[in-house]
Amino acid sequence: MDIYQLLKKDHSKVKDLFKKIKGKTKTAQEPQEDFFSEIEKELHMHMEGEEKLFYPALEQDETMREDILKSYEEHHVVKRIIEDMGKISRDDEKWAAKLIVLKEIVTHHIKEEESGLFKKARKVLNKEQAQEMCNRFEEEKKNVYQMA
Ligand SMILES: [Fe+2]
Ligand SMILES: [Fe+2]
Repeated sequence: MDIYQLLKKDHSKVKDLFKKIKGKTKTAQEPQEDFFSEIEKELHMHMEGEEKLFYPALEQDETMREDILKSYEEHHVVKRIIEDMGKISRDDEKWAAKLIVLKEIVTHHIKEEESGLFKKARKVLNKEQAQEMCNRFEEEKKNVYQMA
């Protein structure tokens, strides 16, 4: 497995979780909460891993600089929304609105990474680097998980 396959696997997991949360009605608050804490955990580990390993390996390349800077900013927005959601009650209608916006931004971000960023990254990282990064990414995720 290489880093792109691993990141795509993470992306699919998050997209599935968003689908599950959407299927829940307001009367089923509890499962919705479970899915949300899972989304929160998955996004946290994934973004930390990307910011520690994947993005730094690419950001110095001039063909990637702009995309990577934008990606950091999108992560920042995602973290900010999650942080805000933690401060308000889940019964608040703003919580549901924030969840929708979170989903929109994450979906957009995933699409851009998979359709554009990965393609460019393949020209910057060689096969060995992409495979080696995959192992390091798994390790990093475990560390982040333990700290969370
Ligand atoms: Fe990302
Ligand atoms: Fe990603």
